[in-house]
Amino acid sequence: MEAERIFATAADWKLSDQEFFYFKQLIYDIAGISLSEKKKELVKSRLISYIQGLELKSFEAYLQFLQKLPTESHYWQEFVNLLTTNKTDFFREPKHFDYIIQTVIPAWLKTGEKVMKVWSCASSSGEEPYTLAMVLRRHLPAGKDFEIFATDIDTDILSRAQNGVYAMTKFDEIPAEYQKDSISIGTGDVSNWFRVKSSLKEKITFKQHNLLDEADVKDGSFDLVFCRNVLIYFSKETISRVVQNLENKTKESGLLFIGHSESLQGIESKWKTIQPSVYKLNAVKG
Ligand SMILES: C[S@@+](CC[C@H](N)C(=O)[O-])C[C@H]1O[C@@H](n2cnc3c(N)ncnc32)[C@H](O)[C@@H]1O
Repeated sequence: MEAERIFATAADWKLSDQEFFYFKQLIYDIAGISLSEKKKELVKSRLISYIQGLELKSFEAYLQFLQKLPTESHYWQEFVNLLTTNKTDFFREPKHFDYIIQTVIPAWLKTGEKVMKVWSCASSSGEEPYTLAMVLRRHLPAGKDFEIFATDIDTDILSRAQNGVYAMTKFDEIPAEYQKDSISIGTGDVSNWFRVKSSLKEKITFKQHNLLDEADVKDGSFDLVFCRNVLIYFSKETISRVVQNLENKTKESGLLFIGHSESLQGIESKWKTIQPSVYKLNAVKG
């Protein structure tokens, strides 16, 4: 039996339509992620070696194993971590950061507030909240400060974000004017890596959070909410629920940034477009 387990290859693993349907339903119920039929191979490849590591021999055995566990079991969290997609970059969709520098900061300065509060609510491995921190530190004038709340449903990716260490292949994503103040390049054995400086890291609070839940933060907390490149994984119904949750956490006239390929068209909410992929709470439509 042991030999059978060791020598089974990925090609021997069959994911039936019914098993795929169950996995789809589970990740939808937990995280709101809608997997299309085209994602069957992806689900298969993400799960196989993990299931083998549990010494289970089939997708069916894994489903039975999961379903006997209480919802707070770490195995459920690992299941979610395996099925999220975490692609991100520093300064991704740079028009948003230009807009913050040219329009958002000057308008915010007129409010007389002292601390700008920003939420990166699908922060993945941290490039988005660190980019926000780099931009705000450089462009807010003396006497003004900022705080960033960075959350994600995936606990593995959140640990990587908190760690703030990246491969040098990502170095060029950071414009030269930000590099010196924000990061340190490794030497010797770690010369292929750079790390975010602690002075920048300490501006960010990392926490696990599922966008389907009401955030564990006070209502009306944030000036800006970055919810980019996560709505693409959600159904219209889930997008509606998520953006309504975000309304409650945002200040009156706060802004919501979504990915350039995402849209709130046809979604009932208090968010009104003010720029492509930028929305303002309660704005009078122009
Ligand atoms: C493609 S990344 C986007 C990262 C970043 N916002 C960007 O635009 O580069 C999507 C992230 O959304 C997270 N995610 C998926 N479903 C979520 C949910 N229900 N609640 C919170 N985060 C979720 C994933 O774990 C993943 O890290």
